[in-house]
Amino acid sequence: MSGAIASPLLTVTAPRAMQRWSDAARAAGKRVGFVPTMGYLHDGHISLVHEARKRCDVVVASIFVNPLQFGANEDLSRYPRDIERDTRLLTEAGTDALFLPQARDIYPEGFETTVTVANVTQGLCGASRPTHFAGVTTVVAKLFNIVKPHVAVFGRKDYQQFVAIKRMAADLAMDIEIIGAPIIREADGLAMSSRNAYLSPSERRAALCLSRALTAAQAAWAAGERNATELLAIARREIDAEPLARLDYANVVDVESMKDIDVIGETALMALAVLVGKTRLIDNCVLSDPPATGHRARVTASLEVHR
Ligand code: PAJ
Repeated sequence: MSGAIASPLLTVTAPRAMQRWSDAARAAGKRVGFVPTMGYLHDGHISLVHEARKRCDVVVASIFVNPLQFGANEDLSRYPRDIERDTRLLTEAGTDALFLPQARDIYPEGFETTVTVANVTQGLCGASRPTHFAGVTTVVAKLFNIVKPHVAVFGRKDYQQFVAIKRMAADLAMDIEIIGAPIIREADGLAMSSRNAYLSPSERRAALCLSRALTAAQAAWAAGERNATELLAIARREIDAEPLARLDYANVVDVESMKDIDVIGETALMALAVLVGKTRLIDNCVLSDPPATGHRARVTASLEVHR
């Protein structure tokens, strides 16, 4: 944050050293918060650091572009990186330590363990990217063992990932509180993502079809539409109208099981994945019944634009 005097950020590369740092923080009675990332940070990531800060005495972020969660034809080798800028942003946000391992620190020779969550990872991104979530849960389990946090914060931008990690933590009795933080958007509605850096100017404009699709579905929801097929048709229309965009999936699912829903009761998740040029973007919104304060506030809040 501008104006604040930022204390220096400790960068730790060795898992053993990170564990000792967290042991010391815990022994001193401090609550440890953790924000795992793959770097090339934006305000979405930084909002997670602030969430962790609110709940904890010290905050650790990690940057690790995890090879295990990329498919063979995906963007691992060209995933954007800028450690200098990331370090500055984390320092300004008041992060205490950055865990910055090499691939050999996380996956040394002989590594052969996988953590998988069976069901919630099957649909949506799991259907399009079959090995992705096993890569995510394996690395996050390992990062948890290295950073030893009391609290870990994830973005609801990757809603299915958040649900899979909550499931893993509960199933394996990991003594870690898993927090899901709101999606942070650009002023025009595009959900922030490190992958937005791939978009050409015309693709960047086309990418707005995702938030447009969700807004249109939310408007229909607010007007009383509860049929998932109808709501999806409304969303799809916005994607189909955009020549540079191709729909990967659009689904309405239960917020916990991630299974498709036909007729929505109180709440559901609408999730989209769209190829804009060669870049795959995801976005989602929670459709939910109006709270006591009135549905208008809820509808605008869930697709809120942050500058
Ligand atoms: P990455 O894509 O770098 O995202 C790190 C965290 O930032 C995730 O919890 C993600 O949901 C959150 N995030 C990304 N964009 C956001 C936005 N616009 N608003 C709010 N939060 C946002 O997700 C991963 O890395 C990896 O899979 C990881 C969990 C680090 C495991 O490798």
